[in-house]
Amino acid sequence: MFQINENYLQLNESYLFSTIARRVENFSTSHPEADIIRLGIGDVTLPLPPSVLRAMHHAVDEMGVKETFHGYGPEQGYGFLREKIAGIDFRRRGIDISPDEIFVGDGSKSDTGNIGDILGEDNVVAITDPVYPVYLDTNIMRLGKSSRIVLLSCSEENGFLPEIPSQPIDIIYLCYPNNPTGTVMTRQQLKQWVDYALENGSLILFDAAYEAFIRDNDVPRSIYEIEGAKECAIEFRSFSKNAGFTGLRCSYTVVPKALRARSVDGDELPIHSLWNRRQSTKFNGTPYIVQKAAEAVYSSQGRQEVGDMVAYYMRNAEMIREGLTEKGWIFFGGENSPYIWLKCPDGMDSWTFFDRLLEECHIVGTPGVGFGSEGEGYFRLTAFNSHEKTAEAVERIKKWEY
Ligand code: MLT
Repeated sequence: MFQINENYLQLNESYLFSTIARRVENFSTSHPEADIIRLGIGDVTLPLPPSVLRAMHHAVDEMGVKETFHGYGPEQGYGFLREKIAGIDFRRRGIDISPDEIFVGDGSKSDTGNIGDILGEDNVVAITDPVYPVYLDTNIMRLGKSSRIVLLSCSEENGFLPEIPSQPIDIIYLCYPNNPTGTVMTRQQLKQWVDYALENGSLILFDAAYEAFIRDNDVPRSIYEIEGAKECAIEFRSFSKNAGFTGLRCSYTVVPKALRARSVDGDELPIHSLWNRRQSTKFNGTPYIVQKAAEAVYSSQGRQEVGDMVAYYMRNAEMIREGLTEKGWIFFGGENSPYIWLKCPDGMDSWTFFDRLLEECHIVGTPGVGFGSEGEGYFRLTAFNSHEKTAEAVERIKKWEY
């Protein structure tokens, strides 16, 4: 009989957000009257910006006309979008990234999950704890629960920022602004990681999906703001959280041509050509209609609309922060991030807090321990609901006698 990939048996039975969805569904079925407010998964709630919609409608019409119909597109993404990304997200900020270093994808979840395809199995991989579960799960899928996966503890003591490892690490996943803790790294702090990677020949996988939420000037929006990062880092960006594309699916990955890795024979190779090979073999490109929608995000009106959406969610973050401050609870994040990471009161564990908040306040959040053992005793709330629902959730928490 054929065999399975045994590594899958070492994963938790289901993906964190699927487990939560099932528990909420069960509660909702047994309590149909409960008005449940969802501050759990980081899914947006505002509709797509008007300029994005217009561009999509136009692209749909193009698909119905012989002369403007589009079949398979370039696997790396259309030039019109890659040019805009390179120009506006990077060059305008003084970062020299060229359009052909940008690979348009269908979401950072896929891109951060798939990047392992081009990396050797003997690498020592460092992952923060707590962490966005995709990095850890996809490494377990590849390597099993291996001593080559090293967890970097992020706790209240170190401000939820990993310390530079004392042992040699080949690959490091960093996500800033951070999911789940909402914390950020300053330029100086990120520079320490870039310097470490350059000294040790390591690769940094930098997930900047929440870049649009940065407010502080000393927080870098891209790892390439740090000198030398093009020789040691791949950056992942998404249109999901800033422009509301969680249901449309569009992202991009920057693989600089200067980034080189070593083969077993000791030859140095540009990793750009490997990712290009991977994408052109396993991916047929993000749909034309979706890339046209993403292009509209870069128009002057699109940028204004996206800015307004981000500001809307950040107002929610502020409301949550104000409410939790009044309640006297300890929390982190929510200033340069749509996530608020709170310490469960009275030493409650994460899942007890989840159950009680759901049952007694009808509010859904995400238990910190779902992001790793260091998340035990913490809980994540998102700012992605409406002002009205967020305000109502804050009121319920303020009145809660737990
Ligand atoms: C989250 O809630 O952590 C995010 O929605 C996950 C994701 O973007 O895939």
